[in-house]
Amino acid sequence: MCGIVGYAGKENALPILIEALKRLEYRGYDSAGIACQNGKGIEIYKTKGKIKDLQGVIPDSLSGACTGLGHTRWATHGIPSVQNAHPHCAGGVVVVHNGIIENYRELKLHLISSGCEFSSDTDTEVIPHMISSHLKKGLSFYEAVKEVTSNLSGTFALGIMSETDPHTIYAIRKGSPLVIGYGVEEFFIASDIPAILPYTNKFIYLEDKQLCKLTPRDIEITSLNGHGCVPFGDKIVQVDWSPSMAEKNGYEHFMLKEIFEQPEAVNNTIGEWIDHPERLLEELNLNLKMTVGLGKLDIIACGTSYHAALVAQFMIKNLARIPVHVEIASEYRYSNPIVDKGSLFISITQSGETADTLAAQREAKSRNAKTLTICNVVGSTAAREADSVLYTRAGLEMGVASTKAFTSQVAALCLISIGLSIKRGLLGVLETKGLRSQLAKIPELIDKTLMKTEEIKELANTLSHAKGCMYLGRGIHFPIAMEGALKLKEISYIHAEGYPAGEMKHGPIALIEEGTPVIVVAPMNELFEKILSNIEEVKARGARVIAVTDEPERLMHRVDYVIEIPSTHPLLSPLLSVIPLQLLAYHTAVLKGCDVDQPRNLAKSVTVE
Ligand code: AGP
Repeated sequence: MCGIVGYAGKENALPILIEALKRLEYRGYDSAGIACQNGKGIEIYKTKGKIKDLQGVIPDSLSGACTGLGHTRWATHGIPSVQNAHPHCAGGVVVVHNGIIENYRELKLHLISSGCEFSSDTDTEVIPHMISSHLKKGLSFYEAVKEVTSNLSGTFALGIMSETDPHTIYAIRKGSPLVIGYGVEEFFIASDIPAILPYTNKFIYLEDKQLCKLTPRDIEITSLNGHGCVPFGDKIVQVDWSPSMAEKNGYEHFMLKEIFEQPEAVNNTIGEWIDHPERLLEELNLNLKMTVGLGKLDIIACGTSYHAALVAQFMIKNLARIPVHVEIASEYRYSNPIVDKGSLFISITQSGETADTLAAQREAKSRNAKTLTICNVVGSTAAREADSVLYTRAGLEMGVASTKAFTSQVAALCLISIGLSIKRGLLGVLETKGLRSQLAKIPELIDKTLMKTEEIKELANTLSHAKGCMYLGRGIHFPIAMEGALKLKEISYIHAEGYPAGEMKHGPIALIEEGTPVIVVAPMNELFEKILSNIEEVKARGARVIAVTDEPERLMHRVDYVIEIPSTHPLLSPLLSVIPLQLLAYHTAVLKGCDVDQPRNLAKSVTVE
């Protein structure tokens, strides 16, 4: 949930650290700090607040330093404050950390009893104290780090510098993400690629328990599991993302840019396999037993990705007639899950670093499930640990509120549903052809739907003053109602609930009073008549109803406002009905003056439990 960065090179480290931290701010932004090493030693500057506040406390004199570390924080232990901001220092050892040290309390007590003085309430501060006490005992830096990290439980990605080791930074990880940027006579560490993309497009993904030593001359990777130096030549990956992808390209917010990138994101995601979705299953090593013989499959995820899992459940059940169990990862991992040997487990994760989803995938794997992950970040932990991976090609998603990753996930899962149905002989050639051609048209239809943005902006006026809001949907659109509610909640801070429309009369309808905004997702399908009566129910209690539909004529006299979307195959309609809900949340949040890209209390990838 925090962002860390480091530089060892010949250039002035400060501007590089600051720019990289700005690109990492979506991971956490309640306090920040840097440490730079120039000939005279290590200088540390920290602040409460954002990177722009940090720039305000850094003296120009620091410009000569060519080695440094930086950190932007999302507080887990200790309130956002200067004391609790990173870097933390003890005995000339300086550390920045992303993750949680679960056993820090007992370690801290032990260190205090041996005379250490703490200046923060963080879990992280135990690390520099432990390293410096081992160095004082004469251990080498490698041995000290090895000793310390073997006593830490929890997750960590660390950037470390030492007064006694100038022009050098060290990096190590366990569970939390960390990449090495491979430059020419300069090397970088960062929590993710976009942070250092302007400086290099060559990266190494550090594995767990690998210690990387970075100096302006070179890098050295050593395994702390006693395997000595690790050759890394073949581990260098070149990414084809351009730095501009990390820019807003003229849009006011990353979220709006990413909403408008959905046609391209979906097209890139389905392009390779739309003609032969059944071949995709082979590419994913899903053999006959895993397709025709598949008795059940589990789909596990968090947040928006969980909503994509619920849409997929509907698609796979209807197209491939396979029972699908969907569960929220933080529940699944501790639920003693029933995993039949060889059963298929699918995790869905945009970042590939969400701690709960990773743990659920490891849990299923430990019970001999075959694991497949639908992921948007090449080389992320989920992708590296799963047996097979289907990448969504949504490109970099910077906005904390996920949009283009969601529609890309649904499109990818649609390909898998069609492939499974073909393999199981349930979808004839003509139907397959029809469904595939309608899926191929989705990017164009999303484009058409995006043209409603100004109309929806007007509509947001009615929502921005609401205390609460209801989203209703039936069947495959119930998860879309939940997704619409989540988007509004996470960026406009208006309380909202997504409900199966048929469930209202069993309680939630009590919340409806004069003027309560109710957004109904009602495209034409076999449940259309049912949802018409649900609309009547809430209208009768004074609700202000906004309907998203491809049948405006049938609804305009029954609701207060109709947002028309194009018609498509009922199983593909969620890829269109979600767009107006993303835009409605976006415009409402902008109207309320909320920080759309960095909503309060949230972070883009939740790397701690
Ligand atoms: C969605 O807008 C949120 N950012 C959040 O719910 C997110 O979907 C969830 O944290 C899962 O993230 P992942 O897809 O990267 O695993």
